[in-house]
Amino acid sequence: MKPVKVGLLGLGTVGGGTHQVLMRNAEEINRRAGRRIEVVSAAVRHPERHVDVVLPLATDPFDLVRDPEIDIVVELIGGIEPARQLILEAIAQGKHVVTANKALVALHGNEIFAAAHQQGVMVAFEAAVAGGIPIIKALREGLAGNQIEWLAGIINGTSNFILTEMRDKGRDFADVLAEAQALGYAETDPTFDIEGIDAAHKLTILASIAFGIPLAFDKVYTEGIAHVSREDVQYAEEFGYRIKHLGIARRVAEGIELRVHPTLIPERRLIANVNGVMNAILVKGDAVGSTLYYGAGAGAEPTASAVVADLVDVVRTLTADPGNRVPHLAFQADHITDLPLLPIDQVVTAYYLHMQAEDRPGVMAEITGVLADQGISIEALIQKESAPGSTIVPVIMLTHRVREERLVRAVEQIEAMVAITGTVTRIRLERLNAD
Ligand code: HSE
Repeated sequence: MKPVKVGLLGLGTVGGGTHQVLMRNAEEINRRAGRRIEVVSAAVRHPERHVDVVLPLATDPFDLVRDPEIDIVVELIGGIEPARQLILEAIAQGKHVVTANKALVALHGNEIFAAAHQQGVMVAFEAAVAGGIPIIKALREGLAGNQIEWLAGIINGTSNFILTEMRDKGRDFADVLAEAQALGYAETDPTFDIEGIDAAHKLTILASIAFGIPLAFDKVYTEGIAHVSREDVQYAEEFGYRIKHLGIARRVAEGIELRVHPTLIPERRLIANVNGVMNAILVKGDAVGSTLYYGAGAGAEPTASAVVADLVDVVRTLTADPGNRVPHLAFQADHITDLPLLPIDQVVTAYYLHMQAEDRPGVMAEITGVLADQGISIEALIQKESAPGSTIVPVIMLTHRVREERLVRAVEQIEAMVAITGTVTRIRLERLNAD
């Protein structure tokens, strides 16, 4: 059979890794795909930086997407524009697309998949979420018999690396971030990592294929890790919890929760022990129960592993009727449903609270009185000793589950108390148990 011809948009970390894996494993890939996959050209901005590459290089990426010789365009340049226009142009030319671009899929996926559906071409995006972990494949195909109840993932390696180093070595946030950047894990703009935007992009995609809803990045509640202190990490530990930055999507009676934030989780859960830059996603299906997917969430070859798997998938189904292929967003395009997406104040969860209180009679009664008025039940409470010469003591507590709007009201009242100094740190807590 004739080889399938591929054009690469971008030859950076992931593009280079993809080319390398395709060449190194050509034989095995050919045995799996049933046809040879041949990279025929790559579009790069600076050809002088790729003198050692044995590929024809193009400088205008639009020339590549319009090249009639190319069957599949692999987009690895990232960002929104020109990636969006290039993908739409490739689709208009009747080409299949493989992309690792999470921001683009999260923000413009609805438009891109509609165009692809109309043209009868595939847009594959396994590498957009959790690098090498085949989580899209697992959710879209492996769990197709289930109602997905919830999923919770460590889907930003940089944040996980920072939280792990803070816990293990007591290091400072800024110092660890610099190392994550040097290791090549952080996004070009590291605020995407530490403010939770990168995780929100990935959660948007996971939620869409888990629940059959349109991609809705603007509805994801997003909070990063910058306000988590070393003390919080340590106090959480004293209660038997770890703090992880999670993306959570949950189906509840009123609709779907979509949220990204630091979260206390019991230390005995496997996912609580996913450390460093590694990623993991816990998925609860009604039939299968809890399943956990773990692996490298970034890096040249782990991400290339997902890109190449997508290429093999596309090649295998090139001759299949478009109606018989796995739908882009897991559910048939005319069965994607707009379920209500809940605002964060309607989410029900437990909390960790950390405040600085004056150490005198009646203060604790006042705090617990405010919580009781909002129907918030305390599960555990510690008061630490004051620093020498100070009358201010750290008070740390865990609450039972409560609707967030009630917790917010209680925290406002506690912060207004004369006996409380500064703001109350609150971090959501999830038990992630199997039921
Ligand atoms: N910046 C991302 C991370 C890279 O830290 O996980 C992979 O998407």
